[in-house]
Amino acid sequence: MGISANLERLIEAAAPYWAGEAEVFRSYWDSATRSRESDRRWLALQCAKEVWGSGLAPLDKGIFLGPAEQLVAAFPGIDLSIDRHEVLEIAEGLRAEFAHYCAFADAHDALALPGEPKLNPHALKGGWPEDLALSALRFAHKKENARLGERATRFTEGGYCTLFSEGMALKDRTQGPHGRANVLIAAACAQVYEDEFGHMLKGIVGLDGEGLSATEWTMLERMALEQLRGRIRMRNAQFGNPLTGFALERALAGACTPIAFDYAKAGARLAA
Ligand SMILES: [Fe+2]
Ligand SMILES: [Fe+2]
Repeated sequence: MGISANLERLIEAAAPYWAGEAEVFRSYWDSATRSRESDRRWLALQCAKEVWGSGLAPLDKGIFLGPAEQLVAAFPGIDLSIDRHEVLEIAEGLRAEFAHYCAFADAHDALALPGEPKLNPHALKGGWPEDLALSALRFAHKKENARLGERATRFTEGGYCTLFSEGMALKDRTQGPHGRANVLIAAACAQVYEDEFGHMLKGIVGLDGEGLSATEWTMLERMALEQLRGRIRMRNAQFGNPLTGFALERALAGACTPIAFDYAKAGARLAA
């Protein structure tokens, strides 16, 4: 994967924050307060993100209705005013994010007791304060600088997929009180992981072709790191605040041992 020194520096700056986000999940899996209820809560909140998008799309439409309306609007212009592949990409995005909603909603519903209602996207509207703060930050960055704000948002999408990789790692922990939940969570995360790795790559690909100036790279990095700190707060609240005190401060300060960006995997995906 041939990338510029600027992009490499951005990835390096992001890596300890990705690790901080991963810390949230690892602490939660083993926390004494984890229960069937708390698993159902974070799964429902994850479903909200998969439908409403946390600043990736206008809040009232989210990442289902937004692209669905784009597709309807695009149809008369396919191969006239909009390229067929661009349309296919919108359709694939819609399919992927809805598949993620289904994966987490299925895990959530499988953990229900008899009589507990199923999830639906409409009941999930509104997110939670830290997720709304992340959305607001992303919108503010887009307002400050449309191109760089959008780039930072796409760069930080999915937070290097650490929820999905840490969730997948639960697959062998089938014993104990959370054994059944672990299997369900690992299966859902496995369904989502490869898609989201691709979405993250899309946020990275093309950055070098944007012809950014040194000042713009600095601004992009500032926005990306602010969003990554916002992601740690959002995840910590989603999981009932497993990180507190020094552990939280450390994660927010970017002081966790960085996650090594998998250049080989990224390169192979891009070549495919
Ligand atoms: Fe997703
Ligand atoms: Fe995505």
